[in-house]
Amino acid sequence: MRTLITNIKQLLQVEFATENKQKVYGKELAFLPSINNAWLIIDNGRIHSFGAMKEFPNTYTDEIIDATGKLVLPSWCDSHTHLVFAAPRQEEFVDRIKGLSYEEIAMRGGGILNSAAKLNKISENELYDQSQIRLLNVMAQGTGCIEIKSGYGLCLAGELKMLKVIRRLKENNTIPIKASFLAAHAYPIEYKQNKPAYINLIINEMLPIIANEGLADYIDVFCEEGFFGIPETERILEAGLKYGLKPKIHANQLHFSGGVQIGIKHNAISVDHLECVGNEEIEALKNSTTIPTLLPGAAFFLGMHYQPARKMIDAGLPVCLATDYNPGSCPSGNIPLLLTIACTQLKMTPEEAINAVTINGAAAMELSNELGTIKIGKKANIIITKPIESVASIPYDFGNNSIEKTIYYK
Ligand code: NIG
Ligand code: FE
Repeated sequence: MRTLITNIKQLLQVEFATENKQKVYGKELAFLPSINNAWLIIDNGRIHSFGAMKEFPNTYTDEIIDATGKLVLPSWCDSHTHLVFAAPRQEEFVDRIKGLSYEEIAMRGGGILNSAAKLNKISENELYDQSQIRLLNVMAQGTGCIEIKSGYGLCLAGELKMLKVIRRLKENNTIPIKASFLAAHAYPIEYKQNKPAYINLIINEMLPIIANEGLADYIDVFCEEGFFGIPETERILEAGLKYGLKPKIHANQLHFSGGVQIGIKHNAISVDHLECVGNEEIEALKNSTTIPTLLPGAAFFLGMHYQPARKMIDAGLPVCLATDYNPGSCPSGNIPLLLTIACTQLKMTPEEAINAVTINGAAAMELSNELGTIKIGKKANIIITKPIESVASIPYDFGNNSIEKTIYYK
């Protein structure tokens, strides 16, 4: 099957065959290479060729899409989500409005433990059906590749249920999906007085089964004061690495917890959240291959201070953005809205924000060779916008959908 898209007002985020872009750093984030008045051919799910309309090739195609007035760009790569969950948590949203903090709600058994109780009550099929609806919803908003975490089971059966649901989502949907094992998300109530026993359960009982069944691509830990400290995080990351699971961790969301440094020490693919980041963390990131992934949707929804994105970009870091879609701190997987938050609150330009959720998002799932730019041979996962003024219209026109059509392949 060969599809030709013609008269594209602007073809964005193009990469030429001679380049080998893995991620985009610092000042380069401001630049989205593009071709005005362009064409693009997709052949059997891959980018076959592209160019300017004045050099239009005379070639056979099965289908022609006229993109007059529209932009074409790679679909979003959302490298951090928890979209498999059992129920929303509106009651905690209202408690926060009335003055309780996210941490206070967690301390009294709400938060992640609330979600775990709900998840352990429903069947795998029910969990799958709910999650599938959420996935289709974010795909309609332009997400063409996604990472999904476990972490609301907090027991072997619950974690397996979540990871099996993620595997079914992988099998039944047309986009690439990566899975992360996040049993170290919170201590279950029954282990509050015996935390080492829960770490042992994760390492000795859950991890071998999950790794042997190939249910996870990565290992994650919520490294945070009041959750998992540095020694516990290290033990879990080391155990995961023995099974070939590389880390992608939750770091520095609520405190300067040392999570960034511990992630770097264990060659984490990414350290995610980063509300609490200063010079020390930035220096450590500069001397590493670990991707700093910002989740400003959570800071927005919890009313917390934002990540110092400008400082990180000025330091030359390969800043990535992801949604964190979850029922507690960010009940939205909408990347166009995330782009608006990144532009208005983190002062990223639209080009910087789009680099951060395309090529850098792909890198945070180790998929830069397949996704994230319009390059010959890559998967043709793309977004065709409605007729719009410019790339800035996507974050500018917030709350309105700028996307007309998406094309996805696994
Ligand atoms: O990334 N901070 C830890 N985990 C999630 C939130 C989980 C929840 O509240 O359900 C996050 O924000
Ligand atoms: Fe998260």
